[in-house]
Amino acid sequence: MKDFTFYNPVRVHFGKEQLAKQTDELKIYDKILLTYGKGSIKRNGIYSRVIDLLGDKNIVEFGGIGANPEYETLMRAVELGREEKVDFILAVGGGSVIDGSKFIAAAINYKGDDPWDMLAKYDKFDSAIKLGTVLTLPATGSEMNSGAVITRKSSKEKLAFGSPLLMPVFSILQPEFMYSLPDIQISNGIVDAFVHTIEQYITYPVNGAVQDAYSAALLKVLIEQGPKVLENRSDYDANANLMWAATMALNGLLRTGVPEDWSTHMIGHEITALYGVDHAQTLAIVLPGVLTVMKDEKAEKLLHYAQNVWNIDTSDANRAIELAIEKTESFFNSVGIKTRLSDYDIPESAIGDICKKLEQKKYVKLGENRNINPEKVEKILKIRV
Ligand code: NZQ
Ligand code: ZN
Repeated sequence: MKDFTFYNPVRVHFGKEQLAKQTDELKIYDKILLTYGKGSIKRNGIYSRVIDLLGDKNIVEFGGIGANPEYETLMRAVELGREEKVDFILAVGGGSVIDGSKFIAAAINYKGDDPWDMLAKYDKFDSAIKLGTVLTLPATGSEMNSGAVITRKSSKEKLAFGSPLLMPVFSILQPEFMYSLPDIQISNGIVDAFVHTIEQYITYPVNGAVQDAYSAALLKVLIEQGPKVLENRSDYDANANLMWAATMALNGLLRTGVPEDWSTHMIGHEITALYGVDHAQTLAIVLPGVLTVMKDEKAEKLLHYAQNVWNIDTSDANRAIELAIEKTESFFNSVGIKTRLSDYDIPESAIGDICKKLEQKKYVKLGENRNINPEKVEKILKIRV
């Protein structure tokens, strides 16, 4: 196992009616910027519960943070936050609102010319406004991690950044908030969490017994509980299990001491930036391609996955690996996520543009062995048409 430092200070309040119970969390802040998305929280009643929680606190609101949060929109919130001198951000929503709020938190205090440089030029920052979250969509793990992914519409760029300063102080996870989600968002959440787990698991073995066992267990939970949520949208336990699985998939625990391969995400981000396809749907397109093209290097872990997640007999290793990849794609399809570029009207001719975008960003050495170059990306996508 590789050496590691694990740090996760996020206080998670999980369960029924958690929101109403957490009044103490906001006690010490004076002026709170309340951020949210394009209106779902007003329709499903979460907004009024949050307002109740805030009581007589001094608040400033910023709604309208859309899916794949955009720099252009977020900069308006940064201005507002600076003018109003907010000292805390409460983000109420899914990954997009939380990620957008992390950007706002860092950008308000940013000393350079353009906060976009934190992403595009990896410019370091040494302070950020503190934030808390009320999660309404389990998928990204943003509620318990330090990362965020922001889109710049004008240049069709989607870039990630992160810092321990952006770890939420607390996150409220109330599974009942999932009941109002459209089915497609549940499906997206299942696939996103599944792929996060795979990317920290199917690389090369380093004898990380705990990490491998946790990853396999999480994948099994997603395979079992995800469809249960889709069958009965108000099954509290199934919703709770899916919510916690998605958080655990990207809160830093699985990646401790093991190699990681985020190539599926990096390629997927370009597909979203160019074609607007939902984040999880891009992953469902790309992952089977990555696993197929890289199967020799990933063979040992693919066999672990085949045996421990899908109960496949591994006496014929090649067949077992093929079967595991087939089952992965079928699972995505079974929860309602299509897995081919053509399913999203993306033509084969787009592959060149996707590779070019990755090259422009110098993302030319992806994967756990840093050998997924543009030629390999092309190969991966060509089998996903
Ligand atoms: O905007 P509103 O009206 O709130 O509607 C949202 C949005 O349209 C709706 N929604 C959320 N909660 C709801 C609800 N509708 C009804 N009831 C509820 N309880 O769902 C839609 C999608 O929301 P969004 O936040 O965009 O989805 P998700 O959580 O999947 O986030 C995706 C974003 O996270 C990034 C992705 O790239 C993408 O931009 N990621 C962030 C990561 C991180 N910070 O660690 C890692 C991920 O890999 C990912 O890249
Ligand atoms: Zn993701």
